[in-house]
Amino acid sequence: MKRHLLAVAVLATLLVSATSEFDFYKLSLMWPPSVCNTGMECIPKIPKMFTIHGLWPQYANDIPVPPYDEDPSCTNIIPTSSDEAMNDLVPIEEELTKYWPNLFIKDGKRDDQYFWRHEWEDHGMCSDYPDDPRSYFYDTFSLTTQHNPLEVMGIQPGDELNEVGTILEAVKQGLGAYPQIVCNILPRVKTLQLKEIRFCFERAKPPSVLKNCTNKLAGDCAQLTDLIRFPPPPTVAICNDEL
Ligand SMILES: *[C@@H]1O[C@H](CO)[C@@H](O)[C@H](O)[C@H]1NC(C)=O
Repeated sequence: MKRHLLAVAVLATLLVSATSEFDFYKLSLMWPPSVCNTGMECIPKIPKMFTIHGLWPQYANDIPVPPYDEDPSCTNIIPTSSDEAMNDLVPIEEELTKYWPNLFIKDGKRDDQYFWRHEWEDHGMCSDYPDDPRSYFYDTFSLTTQHNPLEVMGIQPGDELNEVGTILEAVKQGLGAYPQIVCNILPRVKTLQLKEIRFCFERAKPPSVLKNCTNKLAGDCAQLTDLIRFPPPPTVAICNDEL
């Protein structure tokens, strides 16, 4: 009898992991100076604030939910197509253009919708908002305006090096939960720099309660004692024809 129960328990566990409900959301915010100083061609005036990368449904083990076109079982509701999603975003385009720009030049020009389509297809369709893209994007924008990393990181952009662990602790002091910090490497000088900061939220619609991110470091940072830069925005030369 006991063995029987055990078998049932094992089977139930297997079933739960097979249907693989996601566990939490990760809000990923990019620091434009670090995204744009490594060789990719960026829009001319990069924002002097953290901009949105995305809001990602994650499994409890911190693995992202795969895109809908790879695994349609992620939702019982047929997701809004990206064409329809773009129409649905028209009323909030001003907010999105400011907070969720595509920093990279696409075919010679700025193309925010290219980025939004990608985020919708890769993360939005399998979120709690499969048929409500406007709320998915708007709630992500709201969360971002309520969690400005510059107010809790304890450092300002500059040329100093800081231990990544110190920044994590400052954010934890300020918000009560550890974020995840993503580093990249500035080519030639080979220094580490802060590229993204990610906040983790309990699964809810809309997400609002912060939780500790399981993996505090990602990208090129490997240890809490790694020294990283938080580079200032480039100073833009003002041309006469812009005045
Ligand atoms: C995050 O973890 C720290 C301990 O490492 C704990 O003090 C804190 O309460 C946790 N925060 C949340 C939101 O669970």
